[in-house]
Amino acid sequence: MQNNSKIVFVSGANRGIGFEFVRQLIGKSHKVIAGYRDENRSQDLLEFGKKSENLFPFKVDVTSEKELSELKSFISSEFGKLDFLINNAGINENRSAKTVEMDLQDLTHIFNVNLGSAFLATKFLHSLLLKGENPKIINLSSHLASISLSNGYSVPYSISKVALNMLTKNQATEFQEDKISVCAISPGWVRTAMGGNSAPLSAEESVSKILETVENLSLSESGQFLDIDGNKIPY
Ligand SMILES: NC(=O)c1ccc[n+]([C@@H]2O[C@H](COP(=O)([O-])OP(=O)(O)OC[C@H]3O[C@@H](n4cnc5c(N)ncnc54)[C@H](OP(=O)(O)O)[C@@H]3O)[C@@H](O)[C@H]2O)c1
Repeated sequence: MQNNSKIVFVSGANRGIGFEFVRQLIGKSHKVIAGYRDENRSQDLLEFGKKSENLFPFKVDVTSEKELSELKSFISSEFGKLDFLINNAGINENRSAKTVEMDLQDLTHIFNVNLGSAFLATKFLHSLLLKGENPKIINLSSHLASISLSNGYSVPYSISKVALNMLTKNQATEFQEDKISVCAISPGWVRTAMGGNSAPLSAEESVSKILETVENLSLSESGQFLDIDGNKIPY
């Protein structure tokens, strides 16, 4: 992103990679609407919000159309536009389940969150992005979504992130005329509740590189599946 202040929404911003996005974006003097679901799991974010006039914690489950509609109204009345949408919320459940052991519900649940949240948040916030300056969307994907690199880990999660990549590709085509760029970025293996303690990357390092990569992305590069350094990941 450029140096001037942007209006940014981050989903799943109360912890992990999402919270780190908030921390670094506030550090760059952007105005950040930070999505969270439960006060009890969001104390760090809410405390941070009391100290920063540029931070707007907003309670929103990004699979809920009603709550996304409230979010849209809030951003519309406070800022009248959105410059940067970070679809970060995600879950990774039933990691070791075999396809023949899973219920359809296990698959649909993870699809609702990992695909549905990015699909819905973008749908609800699109009209505000149209009013944004050099608007960008990033969808947090995963190396596990690469079909060519796949080794069969985290079956429902990897399938849902493949679908997220295809959503990204479709949106990139659809939004060319709107001049909104969208890309899928894998944050790498990061030390969070999802990534666990053995992960090699800190959230700080991952997010700092993602923000640098996104800053340098042009509209002509929209629709790509990238790592934190901006290298293409094979589909
Ligand atoms: N960590 C890694 O190694 C890694 C690797 C590849 C990709 N990723 C991706 O990076 C993103 C962030 O991961 P992370 O490691 O920071 O995970 P995390 O620590 O488990 O945090 C997940 C975040 O998503 C939120 N969330 C889940 N469902 C939601 C919903 N329906 N509505 C709103 N928020 C919801 C959670 O909120 P609650 O606190 O309310 O549950 C939490 O803030 C995810 O998309 C993940 O798939 C992570």
